Amino acid sequence: MEFVCNLPTKIYFGDQLVLLGKELEKYGKKALFVYGGGSIKASGLYDRVTGLARGAGIELFELSGIEPNPRIESVRLGAKMCKEHGIDVVLAVGGGSVLDAAKYMAAGAKVGFDPWLFLSEHAPIEEALPVVTVLTLAATGSEMDGGGVITNLQTHEKLGRMEDILRPKASFLDPALTFSVSAFQTAAGSADILSHIMETYFTTEPDLYMLDGIMETLMKTVIKYAPVAMKKPDDYEARANLMWASSWAINGFITGAKPQAWSVHPMEHELSAFYDITHGLGLAILTPRWLEYCRNEKTLPRISRFGENVFGLAPSGDLEKDADAAIKALSDFLFGDLGLTSTLGGLGIGREHFAQMAQKAVKGGVVEGFIPLAAADVEKIFEMCL
Ligand code: NZQ
Ligand code: ZN
Repeated sequence: MEFVCNLPTKIYFGDQLVLLGKELEKYGKKALFVYGGGSIKASGLYDRVTGLARGAGIELFELSGIEPNPRIESVRLGAKMCKEHGIDVVLAVGGGSVLDAAKYMAAGAKVGFDPWLFLSEHAPIEEALPVVTVLTLAATGSEMDGGGVITNLQTHEKLGRMEDILRPKASFLDPALTFSVSAFQTAAGSADILSHIMETYFTTEPDLYMLDGIMETLMKTVIKYAPVAMKKPDDYEARANLMWASSWAINGFITGAKPQAWSVHPMEHELSAFYDITHGLGLAILTPRWLEYCRNEKTLPRISRFGENVFGLAPSGDLEKDADAAIKALSDFLFGDLGLTSTLGGLGIGREHFAQMAQKAVKGGVVEGFIPLAAADVEKIFEMCL
């Protein structure tokens, strides 16, 4: 199997923010400083970042208020600011939403058309300004991948794509910056990391000894440390393990040459697009039901292996029973240990848009994931989540 592994993002892990100015200097003197709704001001990170950047002679142009499930309007504004001010580098400080928005601002700065076309029409991304990130929430892996997901509330669309050119040039990953993340966001972020691994792990392709083992260890890492970080938010070991797992879950490394067809993310993006819910929460509600729906002769061995190698369940010799036990262990973890809401009904979501959301999730066709899913299948999975 042939594959290309391209992981160009330079990672500064741990307490190394002091090197931020030096890193930014490489790209020029003017930075668009993008951040969210205020968590970085409350934690004191805002003052540190501005101090370090200005200390290195970097002129900062600020764009705050990037929303969770970042909006295309923010991207448009950022791209416009980049052009107006002759920005050299985009500095994103925050969670995945801030980082994702920054990536499309960086690409939008280089084109004369509406950046929404990158998502709606897959307009080519040939150039982008360099992006440097300071991550404050372990979840999406945006700090090391070329992904970015943007919401257009007018059209009820949440669309993403992956491009190497959008990978950050450098990311500062200091686990201590995630001490202030709430228990809920820690849980949702952990469900997101798990899902990124599961989307790759659950396949009927032949096993890959090394990568399967690494995926199982990454999942065990989340299962071990998420509850620790929720109970003790300043547990460095827990936060560090979650943060590094977040990056490796989705940067492309665990994929190898396996054909990829993610199933749960497209379904969740419809939930976020219609109801603006937290991404990781939507994934948590969907994933056990999706696995249940996928149970068949071909998939049972993999689901059972997941129970055995990730949750440490003893195999009974009956694959059906073992798969059920594995799905139950996953549900217990997500809804018990992480305390996440277990149903769409619990979020006030009803079935009124299911048919439309299902069509959009499969883009009117079939998603060839763990099992092929057509719109009717997705609708049934949504129903199972009620
Ligand atoms: O806006 P602020 O005030 O910073 O508060 C944020 C936000 O309210 C808060 N937060 C972040 N760091 C914090 C903190 N609060 C206290 N202390 C800190 N250190 O957390 C809230 C959620 O932030 P957000 O950035 O939205 O969360 P997350 O990192 O989970 O990002 C979710 C977005 O990323 C997309 C999702 O769809 C969603 O739009 N994804 C991006 C991917 C990628 N780039 O590859 C892949 C994922 O599958 C995902 O789709
Ligand atoms: Zn995700």
